[in-house]
Amino acid sequence: MPVPSHPTRRSLLLGTAGTAALLAAGTGTRFRPGAPATLAPVSRAGSAADVAVLLTAAPTTVDLGAREVATWGFGDRVPGPEIRVTAGATVTAHLRNDLPQGTTVHWHGVRIDQRMDGAPGFSQAPVAPGGGFDYRFVVPDPGTYFYHSHVGTQLDRALYGALVVEDPAEPLSYDAEWTVVLDDWIDGTGTDPDAVLTELRGNPRPPQNLRSTLLGGSAGHVAYPHYLINGRAPEAPEVFEEAPGRRVRLRLINAGADTAFRVALGGHRLTVTHTDGFPVLPVRVDTLLIGMGERYDVLVTLDDGVFPLVAAAEGKNARAFAVVRTSTGDAPPASVVVPELDRRVLDLADLTADPSVDPGDEPAREVDLVLRTGGARGTSWTIGTADASDDTSLRVAVAHGERVRLSFTNDSRIWHPVHLHGHTFRVRRPGGGGPRKDTVVVRPRETVTVDLLADNPGEWMLHCHNVYHSELGMMATLGYGDTPPDTIMPGMASEQH
Ligand code: C2O
Ligand code: CU
Repeated sequence: MPVPSHPTRRSLLLGTAGTAALLAAGTGTRFRPGAPATLAPVSRAGSAADVAVLLTAAPTTVDLGAREVATWGFGDRVPGPEIRVTAGATVTAHLRNDLPQGTTVHWHGVRIDQRMDGAPGFSQAPVAPGGGFDYRFVVPDPGTYFYHSHVGTQLDRALYGALVVEDPAEPLSYDAEWTVVLDDWIDGTGTDPDAVLTELRGNPRPPQNLRSTLLGGSAGHVAYPHYLINGRAPEAPEVFEEAPGRRVRLRLINAGADTAFRVALGGHRLTVTHTDGFPVLPVRVDTLLIGMGERYDVLVTLDDGVFPLVAAAEGKNARAFAVVRTSTGDAPPASVVVPELDRRVLDLADLTADPSVDPGDEPAREVDLVLRTGGARGTSWTIGTADASDDTSLRVAVAHGERVRLSFTNDSRIWHPVHLHGHTFRVRRPGGGGPRKDTVVVRPRETVTVDLLADNPGEWMLHCHNVYHSELGMMATLGYGDTPPDTIMPGMASEQH
């Protein structure tokens, strides 16, 4: 099977150890031959397992296949460079900011040292234009993660990439793995995300024509001109090639800003093995819904043929599309009917954390949070208390070592993918169990309850991963102790290099 030519990502590498690690990733990520069953053991800082990368955020032009667009990215491709590292190793990422505005990099889902979290106003001030910042952190847990800018609407440009943390004792066996990054794209198409935000600020009501039963009502605010798999529009799709009969691990990441995707591989069922990095008891489904900020890992055993890999933009009557090829023959058109999309869809209630990652004990305290529309001081969305007259976004105070139950009730007319920084939680099912995650979809009129162990001191963002909702106010915090430290304020002095 010929290996398609994906040029090595233009990331500048720092240090020889990092060079080896990242070059391996750049050339072999999607089409790695052989089973990654034997990986290098976890090693200490300074060893060859550590990874160093330079991320330069800058205005750029990227080719989506359907067209070229001017945008802001980490190089001339979208997604930005994939970073692969072994759990326990250290990532050093030097951010250089050549954008005309401040930026940060957030390592989504990683239980990270708070100072490295890239949360503007919390862990650092935005890195000013012309400045830089060294992110240096240990990756404690294997799994599928991603990194993205956390300033304003920058996530809805090309400022994101996959972060894959390999398990030195990977229990799954598979022959190859593909990273599949989903995105909704509008930047450089005659408008940009800041213009979208301005429009939504004036009118936060979602349009009537974007609706989904699966999402419980409104699907989103923006009908995007393009939906992408690994930066490619359906007109010029990514082609994944493997031999028939091979078992492949797909790492699905939703890096979109306002779109949930319903993912299916024509002619195949999906065995879900992980969500948000953490293993679950395997479940076989035909399709799954992935909200912004969520990740799912699935295994498929490839049939003989040419198959559509479809990520339908849920409720938006459009799709992202790629091709899976295990033999010669014509590729299906992007519009091909994929019956799996309408068959059995994964439900959150299907998922149970693997016992090895189930945090166990029952929390002693429950905090009720309500997701609302409206709010004071010009906000359109809030995460507040159960008291409806209290329309400010709030701070949840926890004690170090405490187990806390958070319950999210959605009192608005649109779904929200709620994400917590610095921690993972166990979604609580009636009757026990539930997956371990960091981002969870909460539909209108639904209550989702999660249990967490407060074991990572700091001030952490707790927000909707719809970038427009969070920019318009759907942002709370979870902090340790009764009052936040006074260094936590927007515009605190940044560490510039
Ligand atoms: Cu990926 Cu605060 O988020
Ligand atoms: Cu939201």
